[in-house]
Amino acid sequence: MNKKTIRDIDWQGKRALVRVDFNVPLDDNEVITDDTRIRAALPTIRYLLGNGASVVLMSHLGRPKKKVVEKLRLRPVVGRLSELLPEAQKVTSIRVTTGEAALATARSLQPGEVLLLENTRFDPREEANDDEMAQELAQLGDVYVNDAFGSAHRAHASTEGVARHLPAVAGFLMEAELNALYGALENPQRPFVTVIGGAKISDKIGVMENLLGRVDALLVGGGMANTFLLAQGYRLGDSLVEPESVEIAHTLIEKAKATSARLLLPTDAVIADAFSAEAQHRVVPVTDVPDGWRILDIGPESVGAYQEALKGAKTIIWNGPMGVFEMSPFARGTLAIAQAMAEATEAGATTVVGGGDSVAAVEQSGLASKISHISTGGGASLELLEGRTLPGVAILQDR
Ligand code: 3PG
Repeated sequence: MNKKTIRDIDWQGKRALVRVDFNVPLDDNEVITDDTRIRAALPTIRYLLGNGASVVLMSHLGRPKKKVVEKLRLRPVVGRLSELLPEAQKVTSIRVTTGEAALATARSLQPGEVLLLENTRFDPREEANDDEMAQELAQLGDVYVNDAFGSAHRAHASTEGVARHLPAVAGFLMEAELNALYGALENPQRPFVTVIGGAKISDKIGVMENLLGRVDALLVGGGMANTFLLAQGYRLGDSLVEPESVEIAHTLIEKAKATSARLLLPTDAVIADAFSAEAQHRVVPVTDVPDGWRILDIGPESVGAYQEALKGAKTIIWNGPMGVFEMSPFARGTLAIAQAMAEATEAGATTVVGGGDSVAAVEQSGLASKISHISTGGGASLELLEGRTLPGVAILQDR
């Protein structure tokens, strides 16, 4: 990575203004159901505290639509954060993001203390990347640190604008994410294989276009594979399809032919007579989906072919599930990819999983520790794989 990081700063006596992505899932009682993103930010926070800084944290939570939403306050996060950071002198939060109270509290911080500001998206100026808000935020620290990889594709006041007013460097999570994803994309050990799934082809067109010129093989599954099958003239019963994307599916098939990349589509599928875990289900060739039935997973023959393609791979990137893995009758394809990736890692491959659903699938499979890198960014990793510039990264100081 060619950006400066927190290692490049002398932190003694300084206030670090750190953008983290604490956009974590909460249940109805405001209990955090997955604290991965909080844990992922700890190495940066610990490093700053350990090197004599005080830390002012900013994050969004959910999509409050430019106003205060009580259920989206960051209060539950500060409780979890203080449990995870026993070495901090103090971990507190404040119910505002900018303004006099925020400024006074930030300025009174002692080295070793942590302050979490209120949800940045309560302020309508955040998503507008308003420069006045960016300047107000900048007053709260001496140096800006962006460790919010999950939000790096957003050009907001706390992710981009503020970096125009302070020295701006990357945190360790940001660095690890960029090294893993760009490393795999720009400088892969070959064979380089990617697995792309998920419900809709329209969400993944950019990723496929960018990857086809780079990979040795691209394996497609999930609902999006249906549109490729439709493009080949198959009848798919009640399966999810996007007729408006058939043309683009054709183009991608042609593009694959023009490159040396192998494009693998499912040859068989698990079909069901309803979208339900209790539905009747069976395996059929993709040429043979009856009316009233729908494809909900790739079938065993396709699983075998995909496992074979992954076997000798030296670099693998996976984004998007192969089927409706949340329902156990349709989870086999997705879990088989997780297993094949774990085996590839053990055999020396670099394996990267990006995107919310495939991350959940890897966690569900119990194989997360056997993957080289699991991204904390859904939308951000997708945009990176599309080859787009992430504004929250571009604005950081070059090395
Ligand atoms: C995410 O969960 O992908 C990030 O926190 C960004 O959230 P957003 O899609 O609401 O900007």
